[in-house]
Amino acid sequence: MIKKAIFPVGGLGTRFLPATKALPKEMLPVVDKPLIQYAIEEAAAAGIEEFIFVTGRNKTAIEDHFDHSFELEKTLLAKDKTSALDAVRRMIHAPGSVAYVRQQEPAGLGHAVWCARNLVHDEPVAILLADDLILGKSCMAEMVAAYQGGNLIAVMNVPKSDTGSYGIITPGKDDGQLIEVAGLIEKPDPEDAPSTLGVVGRYIIEPGVFSQLDRQERGASNEVQLTDALAHQIGKVPFHGLRFSGERFDCGSKIGFLQANIAIAMTRDDLAAPLAKWVKGRMLSGQVE
Ligand code: G1P
Repeated sequence: MIKKAIFPVGGLGTRFLPATKALPKEMLPVVDKPLIQYAIEEAAAAGIEEFIFVTGRNKTAIEDHFDHSFELEKTLLAKDKTSALDAVRRMIHAPGSVAYVRQQEPAGLGHAVWCARNLVHDEPVAILLADDLILGKSCMAEMVAAYQGGNLIAVMNVPKSDTGSYGIITPGKDDGQLIEVAGLIEKPDPEDAPSTLGVVGRYIIEPGVFSQLDRQERGASNEVQLTDALAHQIGKVPFHGLRFSGERFDCGSKIGFLQANIAIAMTRDDLAAPLAKWVKGRMLSGQVE
């Protein structure tokens, strides 16, 4: 069973400045919930019980978010706002089940994951990147159910012109849901990409990946890449990609973030109808083609 998950949240969020100058990008709300909370809930739905955040400077809002706020709870209780109180209390995890470790320098995703090595023992561990918001069935739950050892990544088809934004796999045997990974390369140009199957930010890794990361080899963008450490394990342990059933939004980009907001609002009883009416009105008035 997979019981632990790593959440790399040390990034600077430069694409969302000035919003992210003092606010961690993982705290940006999608409708009314911060991005990181979607990832935590997805992990919890997969049976994860221990949450390891790899943080950086300016990220204390994340720690506060998953802790009690006594003044707030007391006020909500006094005002009888039970559903709001439930919402803030539901997020609190068992004492000792949330750990924070700092990545002192922005040296890449592989480096961030490696910073958590002493909190993970000889066991497979999940990794979730909060930027990738996945609506629908918990992607991590699907991965945990399909996991048979070795390394497992979530994959989806991406436009050929976008291969430079993803880890891209060389596919092997494919049963429709699970695909053998015969090769993996970080952010290739479209003309060099071995396929259009891109890695989405969900991983289950075995301990051998940490041994690779120990070497601190720099790859694309002169950063320690998780992709490279996984690629080094090919042939040593099983490696598969999983086509997940949910819908993924790239909340690291502004358009993906806006789409996620609208898609999630459309699932809410209180928002779907007024939002649809407003969008329709905008389109009819010719402001949107
Ligand atoms: C990271 C990984 C990349 C993966 C992507 C998914 O890149 O390095 O392999 O495809 O996440 O979102 P980033 O988006 O952090 O640049």
